[in-house]
Amino acid sequence: MYLTQLDINQVRNLHDVKIKPGKRCNYIFGNNASGKTSVLEAIYLLSVARSFRTTHIKHVISYNSPLLQIFARIQSDSNQEHTALGLERSDKKTRIRINGSDVKQVSELSSLLPVQIINPDVHKLLEQGPKYRRQFIDWGVFHVEHGFLQAWQQYYRVLKQRNAALRKRLNKKDIILWDDQLIQYAKSITLARESYLSGFLPIFNRYINTLMGLSVEISYVRGWNTELSFTETLSKSFEKDIFKRFTSSGPHRADLAILHNGIPVQNSFSRGQQKLLVCAMRLAQINHLKKVTNQQSVLLVDDLAAELDVQHRQNLIDLLVDTQAQLFLTATEQNSFILPPEIESKMFHVEHGIVKEVVQ
Ligand SMILES: Nc1ncnc2c1ncn2[C@@H]1O[C@H](COP(=O)(O)OP(=O)(O)OP(=O)(O)O)[C@@H](O)[C@H]1O
Ligand SMILES: [Mg+2]
Repeated sequence: MYLTQLDINQVRNLHDVKIKPGKRCNYIFGNNASGKTSVLEAIYLLSVARSFRTTHIKHVISYNSPLLQIFARIQSDSNQEHTALGLERSDKKTRIRINGSDVKQVSELSSLLPVQIINPDVHKLLEQGPKYRRQFIDWGVFHVEHGFLQAWQQYYRVLKQRNAALRKRLNKKDIILWDDQLIQYAKSITLARESYLSGFLPIFNRYINTLMGLSVEISYVRGWNTELSFTETLSKSFEKDIFKRFTSSGPHRADLAILHNGIPVQNSFSRGQQKLLVCAMRLAQINHLKKVTNQQSVLLVDDLAAELDVQHRQNLIDLLVDTQAQLFLTATEQNSFILPPEIESKMFHVEHGIVKEVVQ
């Protein structure tokens, strides 16, 4: 799958952008504040209806505009089928259209357009709270396992009910009433995440070895004491949950432990090493998705040069190109890095929010 057409209206300083991206590599260059990251932001928005830069959509919508609009045509790799995707967002409303019909669930967009991003913020995946690492693993599970989203949504629905009962200090029977369902969905989520990880890890190990020449151990932390079953945990931590007024264990507290020589990488790796590690994680996800479902991702790479020396930068470019994913790379200079000459690539110049293809 790849984008063949991209129209962006009222996303930051991009008011009326219309481009025809190339199938493989799209190199976007321009001065600071010209609008490069905003182009990537628009593609990301079209996949998940939110930004990677802010949780407040009003900051993404152009000043003085009530809403933003993004439209794209995607083409599947396997047949010549085209799909039209549209997203309109205002401060209050999200409207999604697929082939001209309104669609309610953002997940329908995401499943058609899997997007990954590598930007100068990648180290946050390692340094910030477990939520980000759960999002990382769930991106992969969602795209390879169809039933996962439903189990996930049901789990959070039941968890919300149980937490509401705890908050309202209801009787014990009105709290544990939710436990059977919670246990059932927790089991599906845990199984799906663990089985995903077992497919992902061998691919990740290869990438990390090629990029960094060392090994990093990633393991899944379930969100409760693994010496106990989740059923036992819920009953054992009942008093604690009453005191805290929320459910203190479960897959909603899961995490990934990421270690090098037994030490958490966020405490030992340099910024450049952290970036390479997250690149290996994202590349492995793209590769795994392609292997399992034959679906290709779109990979956004903002300011690739940041934190990386020339040799690591070039190694990374070779691996990015090798995924066969559709790439959107940004840089401030027309020749910031060298793309393999045999790769079909298009170049776009951005100036004050105007994006123009540069004919090479
Ligand atoms: N809501 C908004 N409406 C209009 N313009 C905005 C809005 N938010 C940010 N901008 C402006 O949009 C411009 C483009 O920002 P963007 O981050 O895309 O630039 P960039 O080309 O990636 O720059 P850099 O090379 O510094 O990363 C900036 O001038 C920024 O101030
Ligand atoms: Mg930028």
